[in-house]
Amino acid sequence: MIRVKVPATSANVGPGFDSLGIALDLYNFVEMQECERIVVESDAAVPTDENNLIVKTAQKLYEHCGRRFTGIHIRQENHVPMTRGLGSSSTCIAAGVLGANRLLGDPLSPQEALDFAVALEGHPDNVAPAILGGFVVSALEDGHVSCCKAALPDTLSFVGFIPDFMLSTAKARAALPKQIAHRDAVYNLSRAALMTAALLTGRHELIRTAIGDALHQPYRLPLIAGGEEVFRLSRELGALGTYISGAGPTIMSMVDKRDESFYNSAVDYIDKNLPNYRVLRFHVDN
Ligand code: HSE
Repeated sequence: MIRVKVPATSANVGPGFDSLGIALDLYNFVEMQECERIVVESDAAVPTDENNLIVKTAQKLYEHCGRRFTGIHIRQENHVPMTRGLGSSSTCIAAGVLGANRLLGDPLSPQEALDFAVALEGHPDNVAPAILGGFVVSALEDGHVSCCKAALPDTLSFVGFIPDFMLSTAKARAALPKQIAHRDAVYNLSRAALMTAALLTGRHELIRTAIGDALHQPYRLPLIAGGEEVFRLSRELGALGTYISGAGPTIMSMVDKRDESFYNSAVDYIDKNLPNYRVLRFHVDN
C-alpha cells in the first residue's frame, strides 16, 4: 500500500500567470494499491470509476511505462476544496503520478514524473509546487519543466476567501484575450520578477507593487460574484497584496504573519456581509 500526501497550491500569485505557485498547509491524502479492478473509496463527491482523476492518471502512467493496467484500489481523503482555485485537480494528478510511479518501482525519475504530471495538467504552476512544496517558479519548454523551488520564511501567511460556487479552469481560461498589449506584458513581467525577488529576500513591503496583474485578473474578476468586495475589504484591512488564486474563484490575501487582526476582522466582515464565502488561513508548506 502506497500513501501519498499532496498539498493545496495557489497559482499565479498575482502577476506570475502559469509560472508562480505556492504550496499551502492543507492536504489531500491518497492510499493506493494494485488491484484487478477499479475501487475508489472516498467521503468526497468524486467519481468512483475510470473517470476518477487519480485513477485516470495512474492508468496513463502505467500505459506510458508499457505496463498492463488491470485496475487500482484507492482511498482518497480530500481536504482541498474542489474547483475553487486551490489546485485540487493537481493534487489528484500529483498523487496519481507519484503513487503509480512508486507502485511500478520508480521507472520515472523525479524530473520525468514532474514533466509527465505537468503535461497532463497543461500548466506547471499548481503541479510543480504540489510535488516540490514551497514557492516554485516554473517555465515550460517542449514538454520539459524547468523550475526552481525555494522555501519561504515563516513570516508570511495567506488568507483565502473561498466562495461556495465553483469556477472551472477551462471557463476562466476561456475568458482571457488571445492577444495583449506590449505595455501589459511589461507591467506583468516586471511585477512577476519583483514578486519573486520580494519573496526570496523576505522584502515583503515590495509585494504591494509586485502583486499587480494585467494579464488575467481583469478578465476573470467579473466571473467571481463578491470578488470586488473581497479585494476592497483586503485592501482596507491592510493586506500586503491580494490576488485571484489560480483561475479562481478563491481570492487570496498575503498578510504579515504577526497581523492577527487581518484574519479576525475579515472573518467578522464575511460572516455579516458575504456569508457564501468562508475564510481560511494558510501557511506555506515548505
Ligand atoms: N495558471 C493557471 C490559470 C492556474 O490561471 O489558468 C489554474 O489553476
